[in-house]
Amino acid sequence: VCAAVAQEVGRLLAVDRGYVGRYDADETMAHVAAWSATAETLPVGIQTPAGAGTVAGLVRETGRAARVEYDEDSPVGRRMGIRFGVGAPITVEGSLWGIIGVASTGVEPPPVGTEERLASFGGLVATAIANAEAQAELRASRARIVASADEARRRIERDLHDGSQQRLVSLVLRLRAAREAVPAGLGGLAGELDGVMAGLDGVLDELREFSRGIHPPILAAGGLGVALRALARRSPVPVALRVGVEGRLPVAVEVGAYFVVSEALANVAGHARASAVEVGVQAVGGVLRVWVRDDGVGGARFVRGSGLVGLRDRVEALGGRIALDSAPGAGTRLEVELPLTPGAVAHRSSSPAP
Ligand SMILES: Nc1ncnc2c1ncn2[C@@H]1O[C@H](COP(=O)(O)OP(=O)(O)OP(=O)(O)O)[C@@H](O)[C@H]1O
Ligand SMILES: [Mg+2]
Repeated sequence: VCAAVAQEVGRLLAVDRGYVGRYDADETMAHVAAWSATAETLPVGIQTPAGAGTVAGLVRETGRAARVEYDEDSPVGRRMGIRFGVGAPITVEGSLWGIIGVASTGVEPPPVGTEERLASFGGLVATAIANAEAQAELRASRARIVASADEARRRIERDLHDGSQQRLVSLVLRLRAAREAVPAGLGGLAGELDGVMAGLDGVLDELREFSRGIHPPILAAGGLGVALRALARRSPVPVALRVGVEGRLPVAVEVGAYFVVSEALANVAGHARASAVEVGVQAVGGVLRVWVRDDGVGGARFVRGSGLVGLRDRVEALGGRIALDSAPGAGTRLEVELPLTPGAVAHRSSSPAP
């Protein structure tokens, strides 16, 4: 938007340059977008002065549109090769964010009314920036929510493991000792104790399974590859697994990828009637690609409030993408990309997942 606006104001107002700049803490501004009437390309990102005697400085000081004629001796004018500058503030959510400006190199000053027109373009840019910032803030807050939910799950898993599970194990051991001590001839009591022990063993197994679903300890201990191998082993449908990552990844990415595969494999087992499933993870170009493909009945959909929707929320919260391809009768392909740098947004890349 900034680039389009810089070009549009430059052309519309028939000046030599148009730009959008963002104020920095010191007396400079960074060019976010710049347009020139000549073939000359103006680099984006460069720092230019925004102090006293410049249009940017005036706009910053007054918070209003301003115009400056740079005389022969003005170092700024000379350095930038310009004669006139006009600018208007870009105010985002009540505070001055930057400037939208034009500049002329010739002897003719920009026409009267340039200030007002710039000010209205400034409003447009401000709206676009506010939207972008709101989106970035939303993404960051979704990521924080996912991270804190994961942390809570990890805590619950640890409490279960170190607390209830350990106590149950020691109760089973005491019971076993008591069972050994039952005098001969009390067959009924021994049988009853055997039954209770078997029941407790069952509860322990259930609890282990339950806490694995909350947060798999193997993921924190062994990393994604190891945890995926464990998932693949437990799948009732045979899994061909390809792990194209080495070492550890950011926690949020490991957890995200794990839950994608775990939910997808649960779906394959529960819905797909597939004979085989392929699972892969691969780190390429700053993203982790995760895919799960089965040869089952297809027809998977993001239905409100269920497993796949939960995955989509999680993936998007991490700035990633999720794609589901599941025509009836043609199997199901779930493909996910997660940025490896937390906070980044996955970019569309041209090469397909292998
Ligand atoms: N691999 C698959 N093959 C065929 N159908 C699928 C597959 N995965 C999902 N589906 C279909 O898509 C629907 C939505 O899946 P989703 O995982 O969101 O919910 P669910 O598995 O039914 O419930 P939950 O995951 O909450 O236990 C499923 O009910 C199923 O009909
Ligand atoms: Mg499901």
